[in-house]
Amino acid sequence: MISFTLNGKTVQVDRSGDDPLLYALRSDLGRMATRFGCGQEQCGACVVLVSGTPRYSCTLPLSDVEDATVATADGLADNRIGTALIHAFEAENAGQCGFCLSGILMRATALLTEHPAPTDDQIAEALDDHLCRCGAHPGIIKGISRAARTLSEGAR
Ligand code: FES
Ligand code: FES
Repeated sequence: MISFTLNGKTVQVDRSGDDPLLYALRSDLGRMATRFGCGQEQCGACVVLVSGTPRYSCTLPLSDVEDATVATADGLADNRIGTALIHAFEAENAGQCGFCLSGILMRATALLTEHPAPTDDQIAEALDDHLCRCGAHPGIIKGISRAARTLSEGAR
């Protein structure tokens, strides 16, 4: 049994520690926001935060998250940065089919935690490893930038 904290709650999974975290999230824990894209660290659809750091859950062994803190897009609405991102993406109509967005939103959460006022170039660089088959990156960058502005206005 492997236990870790998922979006603020302790969870336990009865699986081999060699299995990818993504399998446990989707198949055992029913957290479907995190997507399976390539399974090879090539698209970013599966990115989650482990102790605040973006990780590819498609290849991350479950044993690596034992007793760690995992955040997924399912829990975005529970925190200030996630809420700002959701509203900003809606306002900017960021994304098209949405498949890439859960991984991108987690990457953006890590970015805004570390750099509250990123430039567009910094945002684009942070998204370098995230594939968007719809070509929606321009709107996604606008969404992240808008969320940063909202957060900085709220902090004043
Ligand atoms: S599914 Fe993990 S990087 Fe593509
Ligand atoms: S919005 Fe469709 S893959 Fe990014």
